[in-house]
Amino acid sequence: MNRGFVILDFGSQYTWLIARRLRELGYYSEVLSYNESLESIKSKEPLGIVLSGGPSSVLDNSSPKRSVDELSSIAPLLGICYGMQLIAFQKGGKLLKSFQRTYGHNEIYWEKQLIPKLKTQKVWMSHGDSIQSLPPQAQLLSKDSKSLITAFCMDKILAFQFHPEVSHTEHGGKLLDFFAKEYCKSSKGNHSIGSIKENLISNIKQQIPEKEKVFCALSGGVDSSVTAVLLSSALGTNRVNCVFVDTGLLRSDEYEEVFESYKSLKLNIKGVKAEKTFLQALSGVTDPEQKRKIIGKVFIDIFKKEMKDCKYLAQGTLYPDVIESLSPKGSGVTIKSHHNVGALPKKLNLKLIEPLRDLFKDEVRELGKSLALSNTLINRHPFPGPGLAIRCLGEVNSYQLEILRKADHIYIEELRKNNLYDKIWQAFCVLIPLKTVGVKGDSRSYEQIISVRAITSKDGMTADWFPFSESFLQNLSCRIVNEVSGVGRVVYDITSKPPGTIEWE
Ligand code: XMP
Repeated sequence: MNRGFVILDFGSQYTWLIARRLRELGYYSEVLSYNESLESIKSKEPLGIVLSGGPSSVLDNSSPKRSVDELSSIAPLLGICYGMQLIAFQKGGKLLKSFQRTYGHNEIYWEKQLIPKLKTQKVWMSHGDSIQSLPPQAQLLSKDSKSLITAFCMDKILAFQFHPEVSHTEHGGKLLDFFAKEYCKSSKGNHSIGSIKENLISNIKQQIPEKEKVFCALSGGVDSSVTAVLLSSALGTNRVNCVFVDTGLLRSDEYEEVFESYKSLKLNIKGVKAEKTFLQALSGVTDPEQKRKIIGKVFIDIFKKEMKDCKYLAQGTLYPDVIESLSPKGSGVTIKSHHNVGALPKKLNLKLIEPLRDLFKDEVRELGKSLALSNTLINRHPFPGPGLAIRCLGEVNSYQLEILRKADHIYIEELRKNNLYDKIWQAFCVLIPLKTVGVKGDSRSYEQIISVRAITSKDGMTADWFPFSESFLQNLSCRIVNEVSGVGRVVYDITSKPPGTIEWE
């Protein structure tokens, strides 16, 4: 990878966004834990170091600490929120303790303008403590209307109380770019997929000893597809054993279509038809976590049979998962078991290779383009491993799956017809196994409910529901109720994430 920025994570939920924004600006950036060793940080030869925000108070003994002088001897520093307070405190400033956190929009006034002609700016903040007095050598840069210090600088240090990385802060990208150019003397970044593709390929070659084989289970999604193609370019097709399983939980015609795309990519792929095995194992099961566990177990049994002489397992783990596991807050509670990555290689007794673990989803899509994957494969909406089993609420059987498949097919067809598919991050139907009364023709009907879900998102970590036009919803509901026997009512899900999750189970 190119030389870039190191971001030290003090536990903010926005740390990954700092990395993302810097990469969008063309600078390679990497998140490390706040207590990463000095030697390891030095070995990266960073252009600059960013100290992230975090939920703790610098004034608490137990809060995460780091010597600012040691860090600034390596590279210029940018402190954000908690990072700013840590710098101010260690450099001789005073902090004011607060027991309450303030968060939301604020307006700040620049005393010294960093961006030409920008005197006031709308920013987003989330903080408890504040700076009462600046360190002796610091220069005030901005305040808010209540005289809260919102930015300062000192030799090779820039610090913001607000979060330049979140989209609610105006010109946040320009401020990060200012730090990169003016403090770190970095010219326009050269982080691009072209520049890292060759690196990724040579890393794979180094990681996998000659003659060893890699097992790669494909899901039809962009992450596993790009992983397989990248591995095949690095090692040659014969050393990458790919498997695509028909779980019987895929959408209409999905198995055939995806399998054809894989064949046209010339992957060494085997299709495994296992519909009966999955449905038998799921028979009578209604609990979502049980469903996930059962499906995971059946997958493992199939993989054990198929992996033959492979010693390595490829996974399409992405950077947000890696960052999540670094957080000083720990891994937290399990909302859904798929968020706990890493169990599979242990169960299969294979060594893990994760070629995409430094990339964000949009970077993976770009990489996919440069590896000649078709647009249909690259731009497919994410689809969960347990498939329709977690969209068919309650018991899963072929009768229910058929209803769900038909409704979902109509929905996706309408999205494509109306040029909406690519504007939406993920869209699908959920079958609610409750009967409601209606009238179809001249008689009373008593049939189940389909809920339609469509969300916009950057990474699936947060999401908003998509504002369809009235006519789109009218036509969709009319088609589903008329064309899918067994469905008597259509509802639209208007829940954002959080508090909802994207899938219903
Ligand atoms: P949630 O529902 O957690 O979903 O907001 C976030 C993203 O993850 C997908 N998802 C899964 N993917 N196995 C997977 O491989 C699962 O068990 C699973 N559950 C949810 C979901 O479709 C969304 O893109």
